[in-house]
Amino acid sequence: MRSYRLIAPAKINLYLEIIGMRTDSYHELVMILQSIDLADLIEIRPSVTDAIKVYCEHPEVPCTPDNLAYKAASLMQRQFPKIAANYGGVNIFIEKHIPVAAGLAGGSANAAAVLVGINMIWELGLTQPELREIAATLGSDVPFCIGGGTAIATGRGEKLDPIPDLTTLAVVLAKYRSLSVSTPWAYGAYREEFGVSYPTDAQSFLKRSQSVHSGPLVQAIVSRDGPQIGKLLHNDLEKVVCPEYPQVSHLRQTMASLGGLGTMMSGSGPTVFTLCASLEEAQSLKTQLINEIANPELDVWTAKLSSSGIHLAQ
Ligand code: C5P
Repeated sequence: MRSYRLIAPAKINLYLEIIGMRTDSYHELVMILQSIDLADLIEIRPSVTDAIKVYCEHPEVPCTPDNLAYKAASLMQRQFPKIAANYGGVNIFIEKHIPVAAGLAGGSANAAAVLVGINMIWELGLTQPELREIAATLGSDVPFCIGGGTAIATGRGEKLDPIPDLTTLAVVLAKYRSLSVSTPWAYGAYREEFGVSYPTDAQSFLKRSQSVHSGPLVQAIVSRDGPQIGKLLHNDLEKVVCPEYPQVSHLRQTMASLGGLGTMMSGSGPTVFTLCASLEEAQSLKTQLINEIANPELDVWTAKLSSSGIHLAQ
């Protein structure tokens, strides 16, 4: 049995609209998700025992059954008990580069890598749609992280329609190191403030989702119109996260004032990104941002938009 080293890319949300409440107490969403080449490295090694073990040096990543990567391996053991009994457990080594609890799906990407890795180690031959189905039970972003690229996500975020890639563009991303936003809190706060106006019928859900599918942002992505994409970035969760976290609001304003194609918070935050026409522009904005907000607590990265989901490391 061999080991696999996998690249697990982060994602940003080019669009996040909350449509309403579902019967499973999740929100019905329409999102446009985009992989970036800021990625974790996951090594999965077969174990001589049945145990699942997670190893990670990052102080905020638990190496316990709470880790979504552990949950992914445990789920595979339960889904395929006979094969698991034959092959044993796995050792999962996580080299963290994606910031933690940042709205960039770092934990989801790690879990997606574990599903893909175990599929290979146990020679299960599961297809991407089959892996995505298993992934959806772990979290709303995990199915997207498997295949990555650019996609419209609906339902809880697990129903995916791929759209053309945007690999020529880049981003500068920034986050205050000690700041994290709870995703359940962000959705709960949004529901409290805007829930009265949620539509409740499936027809309205479908109408909103169709209008995004045929709307101007998807058109701009298809025609690779960077300036137009930048203008149309949208995230409903900013409406609750920015007032509650003035640092995020200030960071967003500062980044927007420095230029680029458009600035937006990713997911439930607190990472803010500026879309840029090139990696060179992103690097120049990074330098300007570090000079403008001279705070050692601020982490800043640059990345290219990517067409890749989980893939083998070279
Ligand atoms: O699916 P995931 O575990 O990533 O979701 C984290 C939390 O975000 C959920 O527990 C829920 O509070 C909120 N959420 C939601 N509707 C979605 C996705 C996430 O309310 N479609």
